[in-house]
Order: sequence, then structure tokens, then C-alpha cells
Amino acid sequence: MALYSEKVMDHFQNPRNVGKMDDASGIGVVGNAKCGDIMKMYIKVENGIIVDAKFNTFGCGSAIATSSMATEMIKGKSVEEALTLSNKAVVEALDGLPVHKIHCSVLAEEAVRAAVKDYYDKNGIAYDKEQFCDHDCAHCHEHDHE
Ligand code: FES
Repeated sequence: MALYSEKVMDHFQNPRNVGKMDDASGIGVVGNAKCGDIMKMYIKVENGIIVDAKFNTFGCGSAIATSSMATEMIKGKSVEEALTLSNKAVVEALDGLPVHKIHCSVLAEEAVRAAVKDYYDKNGIAYDKEQFCDHDCAHCHEHDHE
């Protein structure tokens, strides 16, 4: 079996929604301290719905593929729904990732959450702070793949 699914290769080689968004409603930047990869996620929100999403990922192929898929999955969804997007759902949508690459998908989940938090902060929308952690997410998710 190939190490990477066709979908992973497709989203890595032809990433959707790459780029910068000048009129973003929320921007999330997250990084993985271990590998040094960085992901920046932009969302545009209208009436509580994510009408557009873009990303820039300075990282590995799996990080690019998962951020590409994550942007596709949150477009058209409400911000609350986007918050429930899990790295597992992104990995499933890509037909899987090798175990040692699961942490890359965690970066995509965290980038979406960070962008939503930024949107909430910028618009004075109240939220439960416990929904978002401020510390090193890579540390929390270290054992996600187990
Ligand atoms: Fe760092 Fe994939 S190796 S996100």
C-alpha cells in the first residue's frame, strides 16, 4: 500500500484555498514546536457562516494536505460547526495518514480554532475560554494517535 492516499497526494500537489486574505474576519496562526512547521488560517465570516477560507502553510506535505482539506470542510459551515472539526475528521476525509503524520493534522484543527477565536475576539463575541487553550497544543496532542 502506498504510504499516502491519493487524496493526500492530490491536496498536497494541488492545495485548495492557498493564499492570503486581506479582508479576513479571523486569522489563526499555529505552530508545532517539535517540527517547526507553521500554519496560518484565514476565515471570512458573514452572518455567522464561513463564506471563505484560505491558508498558508510553511510545513510538510501532510500539513499542507490537511490544511487544504480543512479549508474545504469549513467553507459554508457556521463558525460553531467549524469549531467541532476534529483532526480525525480531516484525516478521514483524506482517506488516512501514516501514524507518524497524525500530528500534522492536529495543526490544521488548531489553526481553524485559532481563526475562530480571533473572529470572536475581534467582534466581541462571548465564548467559553476553556474551549480554547493558550498553551502549546502540540504538547496536549502528543498522544493523539495512540
Ligand atoms: Fe510538522 Fe507535519 S512534520 S506538521
